[in-house]
Amino acid sequence: MQEILKELETRRARARAGGGERRIEAQHSKGKLTARERLDVLLDEGSFEEWDMFVEHRSVEFGMGEQKVPGDGVVTGWGTINGRLVFVYSQDFTVFGGSLSEAHAEKICKIMDQAMKVGAPVIGLNDSGGARIQEGVASLAGYAEVFQRNVLASGVIPQISVIMGPCAGGAVYSPAMTDYIFMVKDSAYMFVTGPDVVKTVTHEIVTAEDLGGAATHTQKSGVADLAFDNDVEALLETRRFFDFLPENNKARVPVRPTKDDPERLEPSLDTLVPANPNKPYDMKEAILKIVDDADFFEIQPDYAKNILVGFGRIEGSTVGFVANQPMVLAGCLDIAASTKAARFVRFCDCFGIPIVTLVDVPGFMPGTAQEYGGIIKHGAKLLYAFAEATVPKVTLITRKAYGGAYDVMSSKHLRGDLNYAWPSAEIAVMGPKGAVEIIFRADMGDARKIEARTEEYRRRFANPFVAGSRGFLDDVIGPATTRPRLARALAMLRTKKLENPWKKHGNIPL
Ligand code: HXC
Repeated sequence: MQEILKELETRRARARAGGGERRIEAQHSKGKLTARERLDVLLDEGSFEEWDMFVEHRSVEFGMGEQKVPGDGVVTGWGTINGRLVFVYSQDFTVFGGSLSEAHAEKICKIMDQAMKVGAPVIGLNDSGGARIQEGVASLAGYAEVFQRNVLASGVIPQISVIMGPCAGGAVYSPAMTDYIFMVKDSAYMFVTGPDVVKTVTHEIVTAEDLGGAATHTQKSGVADLAFDNDVEALLETRRFFDFLPENNKARVPVRPTKDDPERLEPSLDTLVPANPNKPYDMKEAILKIVDDADFFEIQPDYAKNILVGFGRIEGSTVGFVANQPMVLAGCLDIAASTKAARFVRFCDCFGIPIVTLVDVPGFMPGTAQEYGGIIKHGAKLLYAFAEATVPKVTLITRKAYGGAYDVMSSKHLRGDLNYAWPSAEIAVMGPKGAVEIIFRADMGDARKIEARTEEYRRRFANPFVAGSRGFLDDVIGPATTRPRLARALAMLRTKKLENPWKKHGNIPL
């Protein structure tokens, strides 16, 4: 027995050594942790249960028969984050550049299949040169097996991708089908084709960082959600993020005990909205003052900043926030903001996370760039997402709610459960100036008349009471009382049941 135990230990040590000391040093010299070190940071201490440590590839081409590393470039298994179950894979760049072989893919598929059976999230730590070149079509098949599982798992268990190294070719499509993508600055890249191919095909000269680095994807393309300074920060923030998520689409949202009183009043909110309706204010301040312990996990903070999305808690339970940000583009809805928020709303709806929507929106962004870019279709995504969502929906109009954007932003008419407004709310087809210029065009030469008409319009429509009189608002509330009113609304809605008509699936305007 002693002999066998010794052999087991030798084999384990070989697997743990990955691609060997030289390559581990190279990994460290790039400021990157190894696959196993990453799991140590991500998971609760001592919780990791590794699977398939002895799996090897089956390739014999190009001398591969003599080059086998147990584990084959990916560490897989399950563990816990703050006591809650999670399945993980972590690609090992020191073994064939973390490239994906048939066996490597089978390991990933195995943990995904098990995660689906028990209803637990999957977190993938990606650091890979893509398809294992020596294996050819077998590795492409492996990718497709992973993609298929990503799709079947979508909306059933949360899937998170952390990009911690290169991610090229088809390899980007597995992360792209997961719910969230986090990237590490300066060491992570995602692109369909690298700088060399780009140069050949389009004659553009671009660095890997500019083409597909963390800044590019969190600021320009919107492909990634968050960028972090280094591996440790990315993994610790992934732990923090995980705490907001339910385990699966049938589980309740997690509840974290808090000392922050749900009945807490916040008098400073009474003066948040400036008297001048054209002056911006920071909507994030409202969110931070409403949520428990000012703890808000913002998603895509550097992309489409005219809308804020992210997770907070009220009375300990996770809530998704969608909020127009008057500080950027006056809070207008444009293509990027619509798609960003639509995807977030759909995530919340998949996983039973109630949505609180804070509205200050002057309308959809006008202009040729937006129309040619398809704002009609992209804006419709947000409309569709809110209309389709059956989770508890609480809406608060803080100031402007104009035109189609009023309808879109989780209005009463889209099955909003509780729709509130602050007294500063203005709900109308458009702002007073624009409205008067259209309906009193004949008076345009007379400045005094126009001013009087504008004032009349403002008095008549720039308030919450017209909507209130129709029952489109359930109440007009004092800003200071927002947290208690939202907390009570969400508590009342905890047992909400609503189902959409049976269908195979809807046809969201993609
Ligand atoms: C096999 C690979 C590999 C791959 C890297 N390696 N990529 N082995 N298949 N795809 C190996 C290298 O041979 C090297 O082995 C080690 O990993 C480290 O690679 P380096 O090139 O030395 O590292 P670095 O300079 O950091 O560059 C990393 C890299 C580069 C940018 C990822 O290796 C690279 O461009 N690789 C190829 C990327 C690619 O084109 N992949 C295929 C994409 S197509 P040694 O033994 O020297 O340590 C694809 C199709 C999927 O993925 C389709 C799905 C639908």
